[in-house]
Amino acid sequence: MALKITVIGTGYLGATHAAAMAELGFEVLGLDVVPEKIEMLQRGEVPMYEPGLEELLRKHVAGIEGSTGRLRFTMDWAEVGEFGDVHFVCVNTPQKHGEYACDMSYVDAAFETLAPHLKGPALVVGKSTVPVGSAERLARTLAELSPAGEDAELAWNPEFLREGFAVQDTLHPDRLVAGVRSERAEKILREVYATPVSEGSPFVVTDFPTAELVKTSANSFLATKISFINAMAEVCEAAGGDVALLAEAIGHDERIGKKFLRAGIGFGGGCLPKDIRAFMARAGELGADQALTFLREIDSINMRRRGQMVEMAREALGGGSFLGKRVAVLGATFKPDSDDVRDSPALNVAGQIHLQGGQVTVYDPKGMANAKRLFPTLGYADSAVGAVRGADVVLHLTEWREFRELDPAVLGEAASARVLLDGRNALDPEVWRRAGWTYRAMGRPTA
Ligand code: UDX
Repeated sequence: MALKITVIGTGYLGATHAAAMAELGFEVLGLDVVPEKIEMLQRGEVPMYEPGLEELLRKHVAGIEGSTGRLRFTMDWAEVGEFGDVHFVCVNTPQKHGEYACDMSYVDAAFETLAPHLKGPALVVGKSTVPVGSAERLARTLAELSPAGEDAELAWNPEFLREGFAVQDTLHPDRLVAGVRSERAEKILREVYATPVSEGSPFVVTDFPTAELVKTSANSFLATKISFINAMAEVCEAAGGDVALLAEAIGHDERIGKKFLRAGIGFGGGCLPKDIRAFMARAGELGADQALTFLREIDSINMRRRGQMVEMAREALGGGSFLGKRVAVLGATFKPDSDDVRDSPALNVAGQIHLQGGQVTVYDPKGMANAKRLFPTLGYADSAVGAVRGADVVLHLTEWREFRELDPAVLGEAASARVLLDGRNALDPEVWRRAGWTYRAMGRPTA
């Protein structure tokens, strides 16, 4: 008998995971505590923009014409307990208000609510990003609260999906990590992931703490890479070098690699910033804070970038105040191919300039609704040209393909001055200069 799977929490991670599990051939039941989310998903609609996800959902959600019917959604915990052999916990762990540590209340609530409904053999699999040591504690919660007792077991299986590539990363993961305490748990996870493993995804079996740490250390490494190149950008600014050429040259060393070495206004989003902070907080609790003090520097290099972009814009406008100046901002999301504006460097820069009296007009291909909700006082335009109309300076802050394909001549007609600041080092300076623009990018004073 094929395993039956439930997915608890249908946000970014959970919705994608549920659809991917159905795609792999399993019967899947997704649960969320927010009725609106469940209603949307039942109609085959996704609450966020993620390429390919809506198609995948519609392919499997029961009740949609032509679907396999393998994917259903519910709000009923008893139904979930009854249905599943494997329960994936995919709820979010946001940063606590006013603290570095992460808020475990959604994870704790999920375990405490699910456990009493586990009456027979079940594997509960944590996927949420949690502080190391949580799995150990949650295993005790399960043992205490499940009628199934030892038959209800825990495994930890962190998720590495990137926004914008969530479907691909879930169906074809570059590695699978299984934190387990028994052969049975490992066997079940191998069965769940048989397809990607057969296609070559490495399957790494670990204990609980290692599985939890793989996730936070991977994100710390990525954040470090970005802040490293951004620190080099600062040095290039001071020394008259070109960080883009520098990144290309060091990237030829295979040990360093080319990826994640794009200097600019830095990282944001719902993961990297809060994950490195939660990691520092947890290391402190464990008495290992010294090991991670470097992450404090990574964080501050990253946050400093936003202020430097603001200063670069001020300089481009003559060095004085932003009062009465018109500033076009291209991009609001924290990265392209996403509508996510959580801790977005682009919106942060736009907001800072606005608060200093600049007249900011923002355009983003997919993030407008979320940006307006978060920053209702900024100006918004419904196209790039619209945002640029009458602008004294144009800031390119999220590297959407749409912006690379813009015609600098057309934008030049609309702008009141042809000054472009590339906060992502993603546009071609030559193309813009040929159209009469002054092009300036971070870390490339000589480019
Ligand atoms: C990240 C991890 O990549 C993923 O494995 C984990 O599961 C969740 O966190 P995501 O938040 O989707 O994924 O974003 P990512 O693609 O890592 O980009 C993070 C930020 O870094 C973005 O704001 C991006 O613009 C920025 N970035 C990325 C750079 O500034 N320079 C780079 O070279 C690469």
